Amino acid sequence: METRIEKAYSEGKPDPEVIRRAGRIIREGELVAFPTETVYGLGGDALNPGSSKKIYEAKGRPSDNPLIVHIADPDALEPIVKYIPEKAKVLIKAFWPGPLTLIFEKTDRVPLETTGGLQTVAVRMPENKAAAELIRASGGYIAAPSANRSGRPSCTKASHVYEDLKGRIPLILDGGDSVIGLESTIVDLTGEAPVLLRPGFISLSLLREKIGEVKRDPAVNGSEKDERPRAPGMKYRHYAPKGELFLVKGKRENVIERINSLLREAEDKGLKTAVIASEENKDRYRGDIVVSAGSGKNEGEIANRLFSILRQMDSEGADVIYSEEFNTPLLGEAIMNRLIRAAGHKEVNADDEDSHRK
Ligand code: TXA
Ligand code: MG
Repeated sequence: METRIEKAYSEGKPDPEVIRRAGRIIREGELVAFPTETVYGLGGDALNPGSSKKIYEAKGRPSDNPLIVHIADPDALEPIVKYIPEKAKVLIKAFWPGPLTLIFEKTDRVPLETTGGLQTVAVRMPENKAAAELIRASGGYIAAPSANRSGRPSCTKASHVYEDLKGRIPLILDGGDSVIGLESTIVDLTGEAPVLLRPGFISLSLLREKIGEVKRDPAVNGSEKDERPRAPGMKYRHYAPKGELFLVKGKRENVIERINSLLREAEDKGLKTAVIASEENKDRYRGDIVVSAGSGKNEGEIANRLFSILRQMDSEGADVIYSEEFNTPLLGEAIMNRLIRAAGHKEVNADDEDSHRK
C-alpha cells in the first residue's frame, strides 16, 4: 500500500478538501493518521469493528489494549456512555476540548473490538482543529491510539508516523509538530473515587483543584509484577529506544560525575554513548551524542521534545543512553512516567556509592 502525506492545514485553517477526502477514507473503514495537540493518532471509525481490527494490525498492538474514542462535540458523548458522573461533567467543562481522556461505562453502540473487550470506553475531545474537523467528516467517532508502532515512542511529527507506518496505511495528515508532545491524562470515573490511570499535561494538582481527591493507579508507571493496571496499555513495554537506557538520579554534581564515569566505562567497551541532559548541564558531558531536553525552567519544552529525542537515539545508533531526571513541578510526573517506562525501570542512584561498585 502506498502511504500519502497531505498537509492538514492551508492558510492556517484545516483544508476542507483534504479533510473531506480523509473523512471518506475513514467512513469506508480504512485508516488515517492525524495530528492532535498531544501526539499523532492512528484513526479509524470507532463504531466499526473492522476498523478497530485494522488499527491493531497496523500498529502491531495486542488486541486486549483498548482504544480511545475521539469526539468533536460534547453532545456526541451521550450515545456512547451509560451515564455521565457529576465529576466528569466538571472535568469536561474545565478541560474539553483538550488533553484529558475520561473512562465511562459504554453502551452497545461501541463495539468490544474498540474497547479491547472491556465494558468501559475511554473518550477524549481533542482541541486540534484539524482533528475536530476530521472527526466530524468521519461520522463523529474516531478510535485512535498513538500513531507509533507498538512499543515505540509516540509520534509528535508526521515524519515519525511515516517512519513507523509507511506502507501500512493510505494517508497521513501532516499538521506540523504536536503542541504538547505527551499523550493525554487518563482519569477513570467508573468507580467510587476517581483514579488517575496515566499522567499527562493536565496534572494531578489541576484535577484535584476541580474534583477533590483523585487516586493514582498503583500501576501508573507500569512496574510491579502483581499489580494489574486498570489501563491495560500500561502493562506493555513502551517508548523504548533500541539502545539501553538508564535513568541517573541524585544530587546535581553526583549525577554529572556518575554519568561521565559511566560514559567512560561504556566507551572502553566500544559502545556508542548518549546523554539526555538539561540545557543547564549539557556542556558538562563527554558522550558521543549529548542532547539537551530543554531548560529545567521550561518544562513544557522538555515534555515536547522527549519523544523526538528517544527517536533520535535510534536514528543515531546509540548503544547506551544515560538520562538525567526531570522532576519539574507540574509536568515532571508525566515526563518521568514516559522516561521510567522507556528505561524499563533501569535506574542508577548517583548519591549511592555502592550502586556504582556492583
Ligand atoms: O493523547 C492521547 O491520548 C493519544 C491521542 C492520539 O489522542 N492517544 C493515545 O492512545 O495515547 P493510546 O492507545 O496510545 O493510549 C491509550 C491508553 C492505553 O494505555 C489504554 O490501555 C488506555 O488508554 N485505555 C483505553 N481505553 C481504556 C479503558 N476503557 N479503560 C482503561 N484504560 C483504557
Ligand atoms: Mg500509545
